[in-house]
Amino acid sequence: MKTDILAERIHDSVFLLQPSRPILCTTKNEDGSDHVAPFSWVNPVSHKPPRLALALLNSPRKQHSLENIERTGEFVINIPSLDFADKLVECSYKTKSGENKFERSGFKRLESLKVQPPGILECKAHLECKLYSRVVTGDHTLLIADIVHARYDGEAYSPNLMIKLDKFSPAIHVLNYNLEESQIHVFLKPGGAHVTEVPYKKSYAGGTSKMDINEE
Ligand SMILES: Cc1cc2nc3c(=O)[nH]c(=O)nc-3n(C[C@H](O)[C@H](O)[C@H](O)COP(=O)(O)O)c2cc1C
Repeated sequence: MKTDILAERIHDSVFLLQPSRPILCTTKNEDGSDHVAPFSWVNPVSHKPPRLALALLNSPRKQHSLENIERTGEFVINIPSLDFADKLVECSYKTKSGENKFERSGFKRLESLKVQPPGILECKAHLECKLYSRVVTGDHTLLIADIVHARYDGEAYSPNLMIKLDKFSPAIHVLNYNLEESQIHVFLKPGGAHVTEVPYKKSYAGGTSKMDINEE
């Protein structure tokens, strides 16, 4: 049985796209200090050249990270592990006046090669990005960026960039509840890989090809 989402709740339909893979985005503040915040709405949007897109809230409140990226044109996407999901969530909490979110997080810095903001040493991969284009899509602004440098932890990924699931559990986010004193977040724990081999059929010639889904 299918359930229709009522027109007055149609905005919630975007959550049918969950789970998401939240990242930690590092940026530079106006005073040159470092900043960090978690964001889920991130996706690759071009392979050659390599580009990704990140959607950040602009209304009714503009994300501080968005202000930093619009001003500097630079950010780093850091891939966190499930081990520090609590710290990831904490990075979304507001700071007291004068407090710095990066210092509060206790994360260690990883110097970047091509951009000013540092990466987060505890994370398993780091994509250094330079802003290419921005589009106001609604209450979010879509930031499209060139990946100008990338690094990964050899313990967590194989040389063909496949996650080593026995060594590294990525943070996969399903939903959250905001309570008076806390937030509850549900993350998925990978239960292993489902591997399947799908043969090409002669009738598919000119349709689906290896090139459509894979590297040549
Ligand atoms: C798991 C998770 C995912 C989030 N994803 C997004 C997102 O994709 N876009 C967004 O604007 N805010 C997202 N947020 C909320 C921001 O992290 C939060 O508003 C934060 O305070 C923004 O920080 P900043 O203002 O210091 O940049 C997410 C929060 C969590 C915990």
